[in-house]
Amino acid sequence: ETAAVLLAGGTGTRLYPASRSDRPKQFLALDGDDSLLRRTADRVAFADHVYVVTRDAYATEARDIVPEATVLVEPGGKDTGPALAYATHRVREKHGDCVVFATPSDHHVDGDFASTAERACEVAAETDALVTVGVEPDRPATGYGYLELGAERDGYAEVASFREKPDAERARDLVDAGCLWNAGIFAWTPDAFVAESTGTPLEPLVDALDRGDEEAGFRAVESVSVDYAVMERADRVACVPAEFGWDDLGTWDALERVLDAEDGNAVLGDALGIDAAGNVVASDDKHVSLVGVEDLVVAAYDDRVLVLPKEDADRVREVVAELRGED
Ligand code: GDD
Ligand code: MG
Repeated sequence: ETAAVLLAGGTGTRLYPASRSDRPKQFLALDGDDSLLRRTADRVAFADHVYVVTRDAYATEARDIVPEATVLVEPGGKDTGPALAYATHRVREKHGDCVVFATPSDHHVDGDFASTAERACEVAAETDALVTVGVEPDRPATGYGYLELGAERDGYAEVASFREKPDAERARDLVDAGCLWNAGIFAWTPDAFVAESTGTPLEPLVDALDRGDEEAGFRAVESVSVDYAVMERADRVACVPAEFGWDDLGTWDALERVLDAEDGNAVLGDALGIDAAGNVVASDDKHVSLVGVEDLVVAAYDDRVLVLPKEDADRVREVVAELRGED
């Protein structure tokens, strides 16, 4: 048996101002007519059960978007480590030792997702490893995790080491060394996950969940992604290569890679460019004109406008940090 777990509790800081704390990226339509969360749910139709794990404030909308799923409300937004420990625990309570197939809901996928996903689930069932889907890198991205592959097995590779979000120099070395990107799409059995969580920052939560005290567990656990908390430390990690086109739509520059260019600019919404190229322009009902500028992100939503160099798309975080409380 397979239970798909869709992670949908992030706030999508890096896509401000389209993404706001009351309207996070997973509920936005960026690469098609449907929201990212709906498109993610459509990809996991192969699973026997579907769960969405999110925070209280997003639960109603998640239920509306994925009516076929059971929505799990985590007691606190503490990043993907605690969210996945919680979801894995709840899936085991319900279905015993089945395979958890976990995926973010901010991805753009092109092609056959299900065969890779099913392969990952088989490897998880056969090996007791934490299985991750690997993507061939095409640039030294600093926003992803990297997998250094070890021994080749039948249909998967052992992962010799996992390195989350390296700095630019290290990212270049990892790409040159033939490492793959971690897609953040995982498969594991509850037993394997609990075993690999021992001695990690998730241990207090896993113990509390076993005692039936999820509230105390979430109070005790730090905010940490599953990549830092577990994947970087785990003994047994396996990689199944992605047989589909993939991108993470978590930052504005990603739109350029998935949208068709309009007169040399990536446009979501309505825009006019005159001697303008390489820009990413996104807006709700506003018409945006660009004249004589290159390689900018211009995003206009509600009463907010963001302008920054495309190569600094990650610096949106600084804006949101300044505005925190009123975004
Ligand atoms: N339930 C829940 N609770 N979900 C969360 C939380 C939380 O507190 N925080 C984030 N999420 C969800 C987001 O909504 C998103 O769908 C998913 O978890 C991943 O979070 P991101 O914040 O987008 O992660 P990332 O892109 O920086 O990094 C991860 O994905 C990369 C590939 O897309 C890592 O796994 C990297 O190693 C990986 O390369
Ligand atoms: Mg992401």
